[in-house]
Amino acid sequence: MCGIVGYIGTREAYPIIIEGLKRLEYRGYDSAGIAIFDGTDLKVSKTKGKVSDLEERAEKEITKHGNIGIGHTRWATHGVPNDVNSHPHLSNSGDLVIIHNGIIENYESLKQELISRGYTFKSDTDTEVLINLIEDVKIQENVKLGQAVQIALNQVIGAYAIAVFDKTKPEEIVIARLGSPLAVGVGENEFFIASDASPFLEYTKNAIYLEDEEMAIIRFHKGIKVRKIKDDSIVPAYVQELQMNLEQIEKGGYDHFMLKEIHEQPKAITDTYRGRLLRNEAIIKMAGVEDNMKKFLNANRIIIVACGTSWHAGLVAEYIFEELARIPVEVEYASEFRYRNPIIGENDVVIAISQSGETADTLAAIKLAKSKGAFVFGVCNVVGSSIARETHAGAYTHAGPEIGVASTKAFTTQITVLTLIALRLARAKGTISSSGFRQHLLELELIPKKVEEALESDAHIKMIADVYKNSRNCLYLGRGFNFPVALEGALKLKEISYIHAEGYPAAEMKHGPIALIDENMPIIVIATKKGHYEKVVSNIQEIKSRKGKIIGIVTKGDTQVRELADHIIEVPDTLESLSPLLTTIPLQLLSYHIAVLLDKNVDQPRNLAKSVTVE
Ligand code: F6R
Repeated sequence: MCGIVGYIGTREAYPIIIEGLKRLEYRGYDSAGIAIFDGTDLKVSKTKGKVSDLEERAEKEITKHGNIGIGHTRWATHGVPNDVNSHPHLSNSGDLVIIHNGIIENYESLKQELISRGYTFKSDTDTEVLINLIEDVKIQENVKLGQAVQIALNQVIGAYAIAVFDKTKPEEIVIARLGSPLAVGVGENEFFIASDASPFLEYTKNAIYLEDEEMAIIRFHKGIKVRKIKDDSIVPAYVQELQMNLEQIEKGGYDHFMLKEIHEQPKAITDTYRGRLLRNEAIIKMAGVEDNMKKFLNANRIIIVACGTSWHAGLVAEYIFEELARIPVEVEYASEFRYRNPIIGENDVVIAISQSGETADTLAAIKLAKSKGAFVFGVCNVVGSSIARETHAGAYTHAGPEIGVASTKAFTTQITVLTLIALRLARAKGTISSSGFRQHLLELELIPKKVEEALESDAHIKMIADVYKNSRNCLYLGRGFNFPVALEGALKLKEISYIHAEGYPAAEMKHGPIALIDENMPIIVIATKKGHYEKVVSNIQEIKSRKGKIIGIVTKGDTQVRELADHIIEVPDTLESLSPLLTTIPLQLLSYHIAVLLDKNVDQPRNLAKSVTVE
C-alpha cells in the first residue's frame, strides 16, 4: 500500500526521501511524489509511475535543496492513478502540504461542505479534502498547525497515516496515525518519518512507533511531542532500538528479493524454531503459549483468521492442529469473518496470522473477536506491528524482513510456528506419544537441510518453467496437508506471472476442473509418498488419459509418478505433516522462473501491495 517518507534536520532532504521511497517500493504503488521546502518556497513534483519516473521529472521541475520534505508512493483508492491524484497535495492557499495513506470515508460530505465555503479541488482524492479541511480549521479557529490537524482529524471517519507541514513554518512536521503504520527515526538533530523503518535504517536505529489515534509534532530543534488525537493528552514517546540491519533489506547479490527470500528459507525456518525447539530436552518452549496454556487447553475450538498466503498457512495449520492436538479448527478469511456476526465466545481461541501485522481485515477480525470475549493469539513477522500489539499474546515468526510482494519465507515460517504450537499443545493434551513427539522434533530440525536440498532443483525447475511459460491456465492439485500448498502454488503463479491458476484438492478434480484438461493444460500435482499417494497416482492417470501435461512434485526416489508424469521435481522425504515445508519450495521457484522468463516485475507485481492496510 502507499508509502510515506519525511525528513526534517540538517541534511539535504531530497536524496533521503527518494532513497526512502525506493525502499518502500515493495509495498506496491502506482505513482510517486515529493515536496521540498527550499528555503524560500515549496517545490512539489509528482507523477504516475515509479520512483525512477519521479526522479526524472523532479530533475526538471524542482530544486533539490532543502532540509525539510515529504515524499509518497501512492496505491490508488480514490481516483485513478495519474499525476494529479498523486501525493503530495497542497491546500488551496498553497501553504500546507500533505501525504496520506488510508481512506477518509466521509470525504464526500466534507468536500461538499468545503466547496460551499469556496474551496476548489484539483484531484479526485480524499487526501486533498483532508488538507483543505486542515487549512479551513487553521484559519477559522486561528490555531497552529498541530491543533488544526487534531481538530480536523476528529471530524474524519476512516483510516490514515499522514505527514503535513506548512511552508510558512518550515521547522515542524505534524504526523498522525489511525489504522496505518507510521514510524519516526530519531537522529542527532534530525528526524525521519516513514511507513516502516527501512527508509531510515542507515541513519538511525532509534525509532518511535506511533500507536493508533496518536499524533506527533516534530520540531527541528525542539524534538518530538506525541499526543492523543482525541483529547490532546500527552503520551510519552517511547524510543526503541531497532534490531534490523541494512543487509536484511537489500538484495544481497540476488536478482530479486523474492529469489533471495526463497533461498533464505533454511535460515528463516531455523530462526523460527531456535530457542523454542529443544530437542535434547524433548520440549518446546513458547512463552506466549505457556502463559496461556489453560486458554488453549480449554478451547472449544481454534478459529484461524488471515488473508492470502497467511490464510493458506492457516489451512495447513488446520490439518496439523487436528492431527496432532485433536483440537477442532476453523479457518476463516478475515474479510468474511469481520462482517459475518460470527458465533464466538470466551471459550474460543482465535489465531490471527499475518506477515506484515498490518492487514486491515485481519486487524478488524481481531478486534471483533476480542469484543466477543475470545482469546486472540497472533502469529506475525513484523515485530511491533499493529496486529502484534492488538493480540493478547503471540509468537513471532522471526523470518526477517520480507520485501518481495509475493510471500515465500513468511509462509514456511508461519507453518513452522504453527507446527510448534500444535506439538506443544499435543504434548500437554497427551494426544501425541512421547516417541511421536521426539520424532517430530527431530524431523523439524532436519527441515532446513532438506529445504536446501529442495532448492538444488532450481536449474531443473527453470527448464520446466521455460516449457510452460506461455500457458494461459494452470491447475495445482494436492491432498490433505498438501491441498493448501496447491492453493498457495496457484496464488504464487497468478500474482507474479498473471497466468490464471487454480488450486484444488486432487479428489475434487472430477467434480469440475477435469473438464478443463487437454493437451494445453499444465497440471502440477503434489504426489509425495505419504498421504493418499495411491489415490493421487490414480488422479494423475486420469489426467494423463486426457492428455494433460503433468508436473509431479514427488518424494525423492519415486518411480511410479516418474513413469506417468511429463516432468517430476523431487523433494526429500519427511513426515507427512511437515511435507508442506518442502513441497512449497519447487512451486515458489516455478512461479518465480515463469515470471522472470515473461519479463514481469517479480518483486512488485501490478496492482498488488505488500501490506494491505485498507479493506
Ligand atoms: C501473497 C501475499 C498476500 C498476503 C496477504 C496477507 O503472496 O503476500 O496474499 O499473504 O495480503 O498479508 P499479511 O500476511 O501481511 O497479513
